[in-house]
Amino acid sequence: MTPSSSTLRAADQITYLDQAAASYPGRRYKQQLLAALDLCPGHVVLDVGCGPGTDLPALAAAVGDGGAVIGIDHDPAMLKQAQHRSTTHPQVTVRSGDAHALPLDDASIDRARTDRVLQHLADPRQALAELRRVVRPGGLVALAEPDWDTLAIDAPDSATSRGYTRYIVSDVVRNADIGRQLGRLLTDAGFEVASIEATVAMFHDYQAANDILRMPAVVQRAWQSGALDENTARAWLTSLTNGPFLAAFTFFTAIGRVPTTNS
Ligand SMILES: C[S@@+](CC[C@H](N)C(=O)[O-])C[C@H]1O[C@@H](n2cnc3c(N)ncnc32)[C@H](O)[C@@H]1O
Repeated sequence: MTPSSSTLRAADQITYLDQAAASYPGRRYKQQLLAALDLCPGHVVLDVGCGPGTDLPALAAAVGDGGAVIGIDHDPAMLKQAQHRSTTHPQVTVRSGDAHALPLDDASIDRARTDRVLQHLADPRQALAELRRVVRPGGLVALAEPDWDTLAIDAPDSATSRGYTRYIVSDVVRNADIGRQLGRLLTDAGFEVASIEATVAMFHDYQAANDILRMPAVVQRAWQSGALDENTARAWLTSLTNGPFLAAFTFFTAIGRVPTTNS
């Protein structure tokens, strides 16, 4: 869910993704997404932007020995880690590829998921078109994306909280409000929208929030770029660590179905 992934080295990025997956909001939505995919033994399932392979073992367990799991990512460090984490699951294949041009045949996939990837892409619509191409009629896709424009952080200096959210939206995450767009993107790509869910990821603890939000690193970038005043931003950060803490943002999941010729 990071707003600061571009500032992280590969090892930090993997640690970050592990922490996000282990957090309560992370575990909750990943379980929901897995259930919504309605996986059956024998299915071929695709994870686009699989990262370090966080979700590949659960997908492998759901499709069984007779199924196949394909994890695709464009980052060699992620692929190496995904490969490493999948060694005990022979039905998992990890492949290098671009979400905008999937190295897969038309209608060759039963189920596909993409989890916090569209927010980073140059052309999310092209990625959706590719998912529509490779998923068979009747097949499902599951999308999960945050909406950073909804990030609310309580602080005595609410103007800096707003400025911080504005900085993430304008300068840090490429498609920061993609979460709210998922239904429209699915429809425009030719999917039927089976469901859209919005949940709030809420944090009452600064450290737990920081595992996801990485506020010191982001706020430093903000003052270095002139988006926030350094002294004001430092005081804002100190107030977060001292006082009662609350941060929340909306996280969207959407399920799309490829129409069958009869529907
Ligand atoms: C926030 S991480 C999420 C990883 C994983 N889905 C998870 O839930 O832990 C985003 C992933 O998308 C990958 N990614 C970004 N752009 C991509 C592209 N154009 N094609 C393939 N993978 C991409 C990144 O390398 C990274 O591993």
